[in-house]
Parts: sequence; C-alpha cells; structure tokens
Amino acid sequence: MRRLFSAVSIAVFVAGTACSSGTQPAATSAPAAATPAPAKPTTAPAASPSAVAVASPAASPAAAASAVAKPSAVAAASPAASPATVAAPSPSPAAAAQNPVLPAPSSPQSSGGKKIALLLPESKTTRYETQDRPLFQAKLQQICSDCQVIYSNANQDATAQQSQAEAALTNGANVLVLDAVDGAAAAVIADRAKQQNVPVIAYDRLITGTQNVDYYISFDNERVGVLQGTALLQALQGKSNAQVVMINGSPTDNNASLFKRGAHSVLDGKVQVAKEYDTPDWSPDQAQNEMQQALTALGNKVDGVYAANDGTAGGAIAAMKAAGVSPWPPITGQDAELTAIQRILTGDQYMTVYKAIKPEAEDAAVLAFDLATGAQVPASATNGQTDNQAKQVASILLTPVSVTKDNVKSTVVADGFWTREQICTSDYAAACQQAGI
Ligand code: BGC
Repeated sequence: MRRLFSAVSIAVFVAGTACSSGTQPAATSAPAAATPAPAKPTTAPAASPSAVAVASPAASPAAAASAVAKPSAVAAASPAASPATVAAPSPSPAAAAQNPVLPAPSSPQSSGGKKIALLLPESKTTRYETQDRPLFQAKLQQICSDCQVIYSNANQDATAQQSQAEAALTNGANVLVLDAVDGAAAAVIADRAKQQNVPVIAYDRLITGTQNVDYYISFDNERVGVLQGTALLQALQGKSNAQVVMINGSPTDNNASLFKRGAHSVLDGKVQVAKEYDTPDWSPDQAQNEMQQALTALGNKVDGVYAANDGTAGGAIAAMKAAGVSPWPPITGQDAELTAIQRILTGDQYMTVYKAIKPEAEDAAVLAFDLATGAQVPASATNGQTDNQAKQVASILLTPVSVTKDNVKSTVVADGFWTREQICTSDYAAACQQAGI
C-alpha cells in the first residue's frame, strides 16, 4: 500500500564532483574475441502481457529538461493506463508506443522521505544530462511527493563512480539506480549496497558477476548491433570484398560487447573487417584517432564504417573529412542524437539507432519508487531474464529502432523525441524538405 502525504517537492543533491580518469588503457586494435563474452538476455524481449501502451508521445528532451528546472511546471502527464487496458504491441513505427511502461500511481504519493540515487556514467554522450536525468527526475516527481534524488555523473571514471555510490549510501540512499562505467567493477558497489539492504537497479548497462543486482532496465542491446550491421550491409548493396572499419564502444561496458556481437553476427562473412577498435570511454576523440589510424593503414580505402554510437560516429566522420575520404562511405551510429539526425539528413551519416529513453527512464523511476517503498513489483512488470554471470536478473528490455533518412519523420519526429523545429534549422532546411520533414 502506498501512503498519502501532501507536500510536493523534490530535492536534488549533487553527490561528489566529477573528475576524469587518467587510468584508462590506451586504444587497442582488439579482435572481437579479445573482450570477455558479454552477459546477455536469455529470453528475447517481448512485450509482456502487462505491457501498457504509452498514452502520450515522449516528451522532447528540451521539454523534460524544463520540467525539471521548474518543478511546479511539471505537466500532469497522464499516468500509465492500468494493466487492464493492455494494448498489444503496436506495429506503428513510433517506437515509444511499443515499449512497456510500468503501472504508476496517478498522483504523487508519499514515500516517507525516501532517497533514490541516480548514478550516471558520463556526459560526453548527450543522452545522460539532456534526457535520462531530467526524464527520471520528472517521473519521480510526478509519482512521489517527497522523494529525493541523489544525483551523480561519473564522467567515465569508475573509481569516481564507486566513491559517488558510497557517498549516496552514506547519505541514506534507499535505492541505487546505477548506470555503470565499468560493469564488472560495479559489482563492488552492488555488494556494498546489499550490506545496507539497499536494492540495486542496473540502469541501461548490466552490472556483472554479482548476485546483488535486483533489476536490469535496458534495451535489447544485441539487437542494436544487429540493426547497425544490417543497415550497413543494406547501404553496401552487396559490394564484394567491402572493407569495413569497426569502431566499437568501451570495453568496460557490457552493452558495447553486445552491440559488437550483434554487428559481427550479420557482418562476418559478408564484408571484410579490415580494422577494428574498442574505444576507451566511448570517447569521440579516441574514435577520431582510431579512424585516422585506420585510414593511414588502408590508404583511405574504406567502404563502410561501423561506429557503435553517434559520438564515435562523429569522431570517425571528423577523421574522414580531414583525410578527404572519397567516395564517402556509409557510417552507422546509435542514440538518435540531434546532430546525428542532422548528419543523416545531409548524408554524412547513414543511420542511427533510436532508443526511446522516456520509457527507460520512467520505468526506472517507477521501479525505484516501488523498491524504496516496499511496494510489490509484479513479475509481469518484467519481460526477460538476463544472465549477469552470477544470476538471472529480472529485466525490462525495450525495443530499439533503426533510423535512416527514410524514416526520421515516422520515428524520432513522430515520437516527439526531436521536433521538426529542432532538426530543421536553417542549415538543414533543404535536407529536411527533401526528406519530407
Ligand atoms: C549506451 C549508449 C551510449 C553509450 C555511451 C551505452 O551503454 O547504451 O546509449 O551511447 O553507452 O555512453
């Protein structure tokens, strides 16, 4: 049962200051087999029977940010429909509508002053500060009248993240929502939390090698890699012996291994992977260096580039522009960052993967609230189990969507992820018109 209080407030503590790591290994040109096998879902994600259709389109990141900045102006977004109004997964391309959202209270409930720690991994990738954080905070504020968020961003430093988590626990955090810089190292954080009986939600990235993870909320990450690889093959149109450079994500991120595995599963045997790199910290600058090295080694002859996300795609594109690569090869990405959508419209980037962050962040907020207040989380709230090498972690796995020039309008624009106005600034007006946006 949830208790009712009247005060409506949300306090944001910033626990610890971010500092960058100088301890990461140098860029490696690692073969696929060099990284440990990623933990992966054992059950293919499917809309659970209790999956509830999202009633309204995803708030744009800008809208979410302003909702958090002005707590009193948070829109009274309609709560998730009750499980009785279950909708079958929609074939609509608007991706957010296909993703499950946990049933949530329709008005702010009292938690008795619970503290929820949200620990995010970095800030070079734009999603964390512009979407995950504000969407999480806005949802929590909508459902909880007196919850406090203890927020930290580790800026890619696993040691700093551990200190931030410890500070949050010392500060009385009742739940940790942890997006780990280093999924294996974060086991220590989960174990520490367990000592204090604090539940842990692995947010977006899996925490591996510990039983002390209660839930995992993410996307079907191997599928992300499959979408990227498939799009790249389509763009290469059966070109024989196509030379592909692969710029993977951070070797400490379990997701990066899944993206890589998914991509290899479709690319291997169909193209020649001429150079491949794991990119420490997902750093766009490192990706640029890697691409530079590849271009030098291959004499600028590159037919396609697999970049694991939009940040690394940006680095690879910068290197190719500087080297005057021609003809311009197709390049993949992920996150549907605004700059990437604009690059897709102009042809600089071939595709991205749209992951509707709103249901991810909101489900995490609802689940954190439920765990903090001891509310029963129904088994039907999850739609998969993920093996983290120590247990099967109950999981909510959302559906990623491939985006090329052809479906920018019916995906990210239709979902309200980005508005036409945000995308089609004067430099992109012509490209937008061509794409019918
Ligand atoms: C996330 C991606 C993100 C990357 C870099 C991954 O774990 O799933 O959305 O681009 O980390 O932060």
